[in-house]
Amino acid sequence: MDNYFTVQTNFFGENTAAGLVERFGSPLYVYNEAILRKRCREMAGLISYPNFKANYSIKANSNLEILKIARQEGLMADAMSPGEIHVLLAAGFRPEEIFYISNNVSEEEMRFAIDRGICVSIDSLSQLKQYGRLNPGGKVAVRFNPGVGAGHHEKVVTAGKKTKFGINLDLVSEVKRILREYNLKLVGVNQHIGSLFMEGSAYVESVKSILSTAEQFESLEFVDLGGGFGIPYHKQEGQARLDLKELDQKLTPLITQWTQKYGKNVLIKIEPGRYIVAECGVLLGTVHAVKQNYGITYVGTDLGFNVLARPVMYDSHHDIEVYKKDPSKKANEFMEVTVVGNICESGDIVARGRLLPAVEEGDILGIMDAGAYGYSMSSNYNNRLRPAEVLVREDGSVAVIRRRDTLEDLMRNFV
Ligand code: LLP
Repeated sequence: MDNYFTVQTNFFGENTAAGLVERFGSPLYVYNEAILRKRCREMAGLISYPNFKANYSIKANSNLEILKIARQEGLMADAMSPGEIHVLLAAGFRPEEIFYISNNVSEEEMRFAIDRGICVSIDSLSQLKQYGRLNPGGKVAVRFNPGVGAGHHEKVVTAGKKTKFGINLDLVSEVKRILREYNLKLVGVNQHIGSLFMEGSAYVESVKSILSTAEQFESLEFVDLGGGFGIPYHKQEGQARLDLKELDQKLTPLITQWTQKYGKNVLIKIEPGRYIVAECGVLLGTVHAVKQNYGITYVGTDLGFNVLARPVMYDSHHDIEVYKKDPSKKANEFMEVTVVGNICESGDIVARGRLLPAVEEGDILGIMDAGAYGYSMSSNYNNRLRPAEVLVREDGSVAVIRRRDTLEDLMRNFV
């Protein structure tokens, strides 16, 4: 367990974790540009069918600099809100490179995308009618629910019989009726079955399903298969990666056959979020207390669930590395600890019963694979300041890409 991940990937370049914290403060999100670019390229080339594009789903991490890099790597983007559209436009994405996957949105939000010429995906009949009223004669996409889902936790399974998402497959004729009523042109169909699969079979099944639904519409320009590609969060235990090559070998023949039948080389898209950014991010925090409460050793840090919500929200596992305050003091002993934050809730736990090299006050902890749904789900709960984000560039230099909140930021919206 010798800092496996960051050593193997030369994550911090010439810098040390402690040095970064000293320079930029704690807690701190650190991103590695080389890893980010590598993951972007893997997704951009996932499917060898030639008319293929990966849309980065920016809810995973919408830092402006990260968006600019994803764009340089040739990715297009998905947005979930006007706020995400706003940041994408600021990052240089053109409206035609953005896909707004809406869910239960107001007329104003829908109009926000329509006014900017951004394609909107609709996921209920009532919202399709709303779209028709707002933009009669326009182009639109529809999100279907293929009836199968997948994901690491029930909260992130986004298709199947128990979710709010998508239009049921048995409503195709209703969809067609509404399209006719408002003279809409259906240019795309999309789906997203859920987040984090490590084995592609449910995804492949869902692709078969969306393709057979797509067949029932004549004017399609694209079919969007969704995201959810998992990353190995248990690297310290040697967890294998998702086999991307195998996925391509299964998907490309399906798609090629389908496009031949459809009679048009329709654009095929995917919507990866986590896969693009999870592994390029490490969250650093500082140990402020070590104590025993009734037999449990607690490592008290500044990594509250305001900084990283995933463990509390989904019981998610993140590998943890320890960087000793005094690097000559290599920890030979291991101890079983519960790593907690500084928020006033007993559920504020980063990792429970974890075997870590002996930790003491002043040591730095690195929470691995924290680049996806880390900062983007952080908050000011307990009036804590959201951390800074820095980027270790390919040339080894370090740039602040978002400053830490200040106390003034907490007062900004009061009238
Ligand atoms: N497309 C749609 C329509 C989505 O709802 C999502 C994620 C994605 C694409 C990207 O999924 P990904 O490739 O990142 O798995 N906060 C949770 C994950 C929530 C995912 C929500 N939807 C977590 O931290 O695990």
